[in-house]
Amino acid sequence: MQGAVNSQLSQDRFQINRLVPDRIITSMSDDVRSGLSARVKILPPKYFYDERGSRLFDLICQTPEYYLTRTEAALLSEHAADIIASSRPTAIVEFGSGTADKTELLIDQAGQQRDALHYLPFDVCKEMLVESGQRLNERYPWLQIEAWHGDFTHGLTHFVNSHDRTLYTFLGSSLGNFTPPEAAAFLTDIRAEMTGDDYFLLGVDLVKSSEVLNAAYNDNEGYTAAFNLNLLNVLNRELNATFNTGHFRHHARFNEQASRMEMHLVSCCDHSVDVRDLQLNVSFEADEHLTTEYSHKYTRDGIGNLLESAGFAPSRYYIDDDSRFMLALATCA
Ligand code: SAH
Ligand code: AVI
Repeated sequence: MQGAVNSQLSQDRFQINRLVPDRIITSMSDDVRSGLSARVKILPPKYFYDERGSRLFDLICQTPEYYLTRTEAALLSEHAADIIASSRPTAIVEFGSGTADKTELLIDQAGQQRDALHYLPFDVCKEMLVESGQRLNERYPWLQIEAWHGDFTHGLTHFVNSHDRTLYTFLGSSLGNFTPPEAAAFLTDIRAEMTGDDYFLLGVDLVKSSEVLNAAYNDNEGYTAAFNLNLLNVLNRELNATFNTGHFRHHARFNEQASRMEMHLVSCCDHSVDVRDLQLNVSFEADEHLTTEYSHKYTRDGIGNLLESAGFAPSRYYIDDDSRFMLALATCA
């Protein structure tokens, strides 16, 4: 491993590296201070994913309303053979790997074609990396796991992948959680990691009726509401804030003009919150909205253009019969 990398845990076939950021980046304190001081309050969605947030996300994925995960899983199981036959990977890199459940469909297929494979999951939630890594480690004795713990928006210069013919993946429609300029920048970062024989597999949610979308982000079990509200628990713990989750309600609606789902937390009453570590007092009016997540919905052509602008050459699009979700496979242009 290179000098910039700090290896935290090392076993025979499972190690976790901590990514050293290469950009001057904003910290949680900066993000929260600027987001809560803005006229229209907003927080970045990456802070959802503490251990509880990650587990709630996993529960969301199992609800009947949240079609994204099972549609993408069906596409992967139908097309994994084709994807692996095209890319013939010696390594799979996965940004925002989470539980890595769906990735097993690719790993299974790759394992049929080789007797060794490297898997490089990358996530901001260390608990998920450990849990999924241990599961995959037991299930696949021929798999080498080189996990990366860190924030992938902080630059990938110190991310080390020494394997040729790598299949880079970004699944689950996580691209949608970036604004369009952030999405373009992240795709450019991934493209810069790739060399001639590498492939990129992107999972994106497609534009569809607002009824289907609104239901997916307002599940009956209330897991999405709990996931949204949990952001306040993260701020209470990490920044010594005094949010009362009972003073906010979950709100998620499709913004057709901007082609994105928006999640907000809506203040139920006039009140104020102390963020003690920032010496910040924040006032909320009754019905004031705090934006917590954008989830952009794309078209096939929109993704094609985005990929091409970032230096990719899209080679295949896999779309389900109801045109809900798309996997795009691309090489370097
Ligand atoms: N790919 C999985 C998980 C998607 S949830 C799936 O398709 O189901 C999004 C994942 O990205 C979470 O595991 C979260 O912890 C991770 N994540 C979100 N923002 C991140 C960031 N800035 N850097 C690294 N990981 C991030
Ligand atoms: C991880 N990400 C793609 C999910 C999404 O659909 O935007 C997070 C999520 N938010 C609410 N439900 C799920």
